[in-house]
Amino acid sequence: MNEPALLLRALRAALASVLRGKPEVIEKVLVAILAGGHVLLEDVPGVGKTTLAKAIARALGVRFTRVQFTPDLLPADITGSLVLNPEKGTFAFHKGPLFTNVLLADEINRASPRTQAALLEAMNEAQVTVDGETHPLVQPFLVLATQNPADYQGTYPLPEAQLDRFMVRLSIGYPDLDEELAMLYARRTSDPLDDVAMVCTQNELMELQGKTRAVEMKPLVGRYLLRIVDATRKDADLELGVSPRGSIAFFRAAQAHAFIAGRAYVSPEDLQATAESTLSHRVQMKSELRYAGKTGAQVITRIVRGVSVPT
Ligand SMILES: Nc1ncnc2c1ncn2[C@@H]1O[C@H](COP(=O)(O)OP(=O)(O)OP(=O)(O)O)[C@@H](O)[C@H]1O
Ligand SMILES: [Mg+2]
Repeated sequence: MNEPALLLRALRAALASVLRGKPEVIEKVLVAILAGGHVLLEDVPGVGKTTLAKAIARALGVRFTRVQFTPDLLPADITGSLVLNPEKGTFAFHKGPLFTNVLLADEINRASPRTQAALLEAMNEAQVTVDGETHPLVQPFLVLATQNPADYQGTYPLPEAQLDRFMVRLSIGYPDLDEELAMLYARRTSDPLDDVAMVCTQNELMELQGKTRAVEMKPLVGRYLLRIVDATRKDADLELGVSPRGSIAFFRAAQAHAFIAGRAYVSPEDLQATAESTLSHRVQMKSELRYAGKTGAQVITRIVRGVSVPT
């Protein structure tokens, strides 16, 4: 087996040891990590969101910071701010927790819209501007944000129009009975999270990301990608389709999916496999359909089925 395949296998095993019975979630997280995209984990309490994010940071062997988002968190609390040096009488920039490799933005919907906006801007531009001065973030920079959709009291759900800063949005869901039983026994004497070891260094991670970006996409497949995107822009169920920013994310996710499959080029199947998690949070459903319980994921699945596949 070649080296990337071994690294991926080790990463997968590390994550599977703390999140049981969710291989499909782990694959999507791997896609985002390789493609250098941010992840929004949106689910009810207690299904392993924080645990998964912590395990990712440990396994990757990079700098990790966790910020618990609360209503009183200010933008400067995450970006950093100018601090007076009383001896010299000058101001110097003190970096905030955004200056890290993996940022766990836990319960992001509990912070005020201003603080959320500061985070989303940094994610989009890989830099922060404080008092007119711009500071580049460190690379790689990966945000894993969690949001609890069931809990509306005292929260500010992320603005729909800004969800597209995340490459993928994932929900985890409950494990099946056998997996949950195995979880109970695994936790009898210790916390599996404590046993997650570093499986790849920062340089190895950046190398994997570089190889992912080099994965080819033939024009025929690129056009297939854009026909799916275009279908979201014309769909009768949607108010708003996927933007060019979304096309880029879709392209990168498909590259990562191909890379994980050990291919040097993207095939239509990579686009089909990544469409739902990369596109469903980038479209806006007509409100009457949303109230009727229809989801973006359902619409994306239908749209992908309706677009003819190049051969
Ligand atoms: N599929 C799973 N496999 C193994 N352990 C799990 C699984 N789901 C949940 N757990 C365990 O349940 C506990 C709660 O998980 P965690 O704190 O990560 O949840 P959370 O989704 O972040 O919840 P909250 O929204 O309340 O912050 C952890 O000890 C975690 O290991
Ligand atoms: Mg949590």
